[in-house]
Amino acid sequence: MNGMLEGKAVAVTGAGRGLGEAFATHAAQAGALVVVNDIEEGLAKQVADTINTYGGSAVVSAGDIADPDQAAAIVECCVQEFGRIDGLVNNAGLNYDTPSWRDEPDRIRELISVNVLGSMYTGTTALRAMAEAGRGGSIVNISSAASFGQHNLATYAASKGALASLTYSWALDCEEIGVRVNAVCPVAHTRMVWNSERALRGAPPSRTPAKIAPVVLYLLSDEADGITGQMVRCNGNQLHIIGQPYMKQPVLEREIWDSESVRRAFDGVLAAHLEPYGLEKRRPPRERELFATLESVS
Ligand SMILES: NC(=O)c1ccc[n+]([C@@H]2O[C@H](COP(=O)([O-])OP(=O)(O)OC[C@H]3O[C@@H](n4cnc5c(N)ncnc54)[C@H](O)[C@@H]3O)[C@@H](O)[C@H]2O)c1
Repeated sequence: MNGMLEGKAVAVTGAGRGLGEAFATHAAQAGALVVVNDIEEGLAKQVADTINTYGGSAVVSAGDIADPDQAAAIVECCVQEFGRIDGLVNNAGLNYDTPSWRDEPDRIRELISVNVLGSMYTGTTALRAMAEAGRGGSIVNISSAASFGQHNLATYAASKGALASLTYSWALDCEEIGVRVNAVCPVAHTRMVWNSERALRGAPPSRTPAKIAPVVLYLLSDEADGITGQMVRCNGNQLHIIGQPYMKQPVLEREIWDSESVRRAFDGVLAAHLEPYGLEKRRPPRERELFATLESVS
């Protein structure tokens, strides 16, 4: 990894601990000039101090990414201190578990403000700076396989699904300005995981944040030239691309769809094409009934 990001300036949000800290320190080891952001200034300073002590180059832009001015300040700090911004890791995020019927407006608003709006504020400011400089760049959004839909994590899942959609759309918009946009779906043992019983089961202590850093570094680097619009999952020993939603066949056509013809479509052709849903790939009850009937016949 040494030298992979030589001469590049990279900002990492939420880099005071956990995955963000690993992304920032590994980027610095790979030669990047790094802006360390976190809402907890003391933690961001510690990470920047460590990088500088070991011969790297880091500055702090502490602040809340959910505030558009503070989010913009992270990118501005990078351009002012290092004269450029080549990469952004949209990493800062919040999580909580709750059955959906117990979720509350204040918690929903706080999570979406950080995970979605915060990433959009930093992302769009970085894209603007990259477009103006005309040197291209790379954005890595930290999404999650929870975006498929996960039990008791609806608000978090929705926020990470929004990052997937942003990744596809920004990638489409930005190819012409030479900026690549990808997402990484990590699994790592961090504070977020300690606070989430469900996530804890999927992320044992051996899955350290450092194991995800090479994936993010690769996507930030010029080695990943030509790779954009991808959701990449890294879970323990596994590295793979996540498939994108698509329009499924068959597409039924008629002049006008009234409720009777919709009912007939679901009772008939579409019954055999229902999709398993959520991360656990649960079969819809209607499909389970259909399979039970088919098995009893055969
Ligand atoms: N740990 C996992 O297995 C896992 C899995 C999938 C996705 N993720 C995602 O990875 C990212 C990092 O998660 P982590 O596990 O390291 O969590 P973490 O809680 O250990 O660290 C998150 C950091 O973000 C900072 N932060 C929170 N709100 C902020 C804000 N408004 N502005 C700036 N900084 C803020 C926190 O202070 C903290 O230092 C998150 O987006 C998370 O959703 C993690």
